[in-house]
Order: sequence, then C-alpha cells, then structure tokens
Amino acid sequence: MAESLVISGISKKEKYESLLPQLKALVEGESDTIANISNIMSALKYGMDWFWVGVYFVSPSPALHKVERAAELVLGPFQGPIACTRIAFGKGVCGAAWKEKKTIVVEDVEQFPGHIACSSFSKSEIVLPAFDKSGNVILVLDVDSEHLATFDETDKIYLEQVIKLIETL
Ligand code: SME
Repeated sequence: MAESLVISGISKKEKYESLLPQLKALVEGESDTIANISNIMSALKYGMDWFWVGVYFVSPSPALHKVERAAELVLGPFQGPIACTRIAFGKGVCGAAWKEKKTIVVEDVEQFPGHIACSSFSKSEIVLPAFDKSGNVILVLDVDSEHLATFDETDKIYLEQVIKLIETL
C-alpha cells in the first residue's frame, strides 16, 4: 500500500481521474471492509479537500431484515467534525437517498426540507446509496462542503464509481 496519495490536476475531473486508480490500489491486499472504507474516506477528504466525508450503514443489515423500514442509518467511518450518529428512513438527505435509492445533490442545504444539520458549517452536500447484490441499500456515502453548490454531475459520475468500488469490498 502506498504511504500517501498524489493528486494531480486542477479541475475537479482531473483530480477524480488521478484519485480513482489510487483508491483501487489502496484497497488491494486488504480484506477488511471497515479498514478499506476508512481509508477511502480519508483519501476522499484529503484528496478532494472537502469538509466532511463519511458513510452511514443501514443497520441492522438488509440481509438480516427483509423490511428496510425496520432499520436506520448508523454512522460509520468518516473524516471531519463529529456527526449525528443515527438517521431514520426517509429523514434528512441521507435518509432520503436511502428511501429513494438514488443519488441526491443539494446545492443549498437550507433549501432541502428536513435537512439534518450535523454542522452549521455545512452548506451543500451529495449523498449516494450503495447496494448489495439484491438491490438493497447497504450504506450511503455523504459528502459535505462548507460552500454552496459544490457538487454537480461530475461529482455524481465519479462518486458513483467510488460507490461501485465500495460495493466490491
Ligand atoms: N446532512 C445530513 C446528515 C449527515 S451530516 O451532514 C454528516 C442529512 O441531512 O442527512
């Protein structure tokens, strides 16, 4: 495993192009899912210079519970300030991405009904669900920015590749 990441490029697209192969290399040779997700969160936070990056797991696992509503989101590996630990189905941006099973980009968190403010510094965010082989949501990846309208289609495209990597762990 490399000791540090080297992010080249100026544009967001160039940074992602530089980061993605390094994420893949980072998880090679390690079989522990939590260890790998933890390193991916650090690589995203410091590689892309975001305010907060983390995952929330659907807990208990959908593999154990046929009805998703019985579960809630519980904080997993993250980088950044301390955060809310539990989020109910459909609540906040994370709960909505879980319920709708799709990526949600929020340009201004104050305009998102029911947004959960773990930090008053967070101004915009993107949340992406990851799925198991049966199509159940297993976790959501949440990225927060201190600036308005940080995330767009480019982030969606590249972070969905990160999600695909996480789904293999
Ligand atoms: N803002 C999120 C909650 C998680 S924190 O931002 C880390 C939401 O509305 O679901």
